Amino acid sequence: MRVTLEEAVRLLLQGEAVAIPTETVYGLAARYDDREAVKKVFALKKRPPANPLIIHLAESREVSRFVEALPEGVEALADAFWPGPLTLVLPIKTEAVPAVVRADLSTQAFRVPAHPLTRQLLTLTGPLVAPSANLSGRPSAVDPEHVEEDFGKAFPVLDGGRCGKGLESTILLFQHGVWMVGRLGSIPLEAFEKVLGYVPQLAQGGERPLCPGQMFRHYAPKANLSFHEDLSKAPAIIGFKCRVYPQGVPLFLLGDAEEAAFELYALLRELDRQGMKEAWIDAAVPKGGLWETVLERLRKAAHLV
Ligand code: TXA
Ligand code: MG
Repeated sequence: MRVTLEEAVRLLLQGEAVAIPTETVYGLAARYDDREAVKKVFALKKRPPANPLIIHLAESREVSRFVEALPEGVEALADAFWPGPLTLVLPIKTEAVPAVVRADLSTQAFRVPAHPLTRQLLTLTGPLVAPSANLSGRPSAVDPEHVEEDFGKAFPVLDGGRCGKGLESTILLFQHGVWMVGRLGSIPLEAFEKVLGYVPQLAQGGERPLCPGQMFRHYAPKANLSFHEDLSKAPAIIGFKCRVYPQGVPLFLLGDAEEAAFELYALLRELDRQGMKEAWIDAAVPKGGLWETVLERLRKAAHLV
């Protein structure tokens, strides 16, 4: 059910969950300081309680009420990327955030989203938690219709149109004196060099992931996905508009990096709508920039990571 800004504010202040638009993906919002409302969000998504939530703020300066001291670089990162698709994981005063929000960690993830409707909403409600508005494990929702697919037509959605970026925020954490990447996202890693003086690195596999969310199944449509170099026997192909593919096979094609980011989750959901049981991904995914995030999401969707 599409709700107005006023209705969304009223529902949230009453302790209900509401789907809200952001520039990355739709979020399943609730008040961060209302434990029951936060628990509803976990239950609705069927999200493991060990996977903590991001707090969304109207303004960067609101971070200061949660933290004791800011790691170096926070202000420069916030100036450069907020409002926008960057999430920063910061050590906090633990009494400032209910444990259920942060899965009992002593850190908290924050971001200042750029979507104008949600910025306005946040000024009226105060800080909100908002995990992606999809059932746990499914591709994120980038359109109100996707939210309705997962939570039903009666679920309240603040309609902000199609999300402009299409992939989640990039998550950075400060570890041993450097910023590390917790999750690839809508900001390509190269973009941080001008602010940090270095390109932040992903923690290598094998260790405990920096973001607990990386341990769980993600972004998967019902169709079985696998990567192939030879696509001549493919039942359906997820590929790239710049390439030529065999004729007579259902094709699901991505454009350039920005377009691919914008289209990816809708494309994965479209496979399900068409009842596809299996699709082969062209293994020759372009490299660099946002393609790294697109590739990581495809690998997760194919259960490779
Ligand atoms: O673009 C986005 O970030 C979207 C929109 C709605 O803002 N939100 C989103 O939330 O993707 P979610 O809950 O689907 O993913 C949040 C990720 C998870 O991987 C979680 O493990 C990680 O953030 N995270 C949250 N708090 C953390 C913390 N304290 N330490 C490390 N990772 C954390
Ligand atoms: Mg998610």
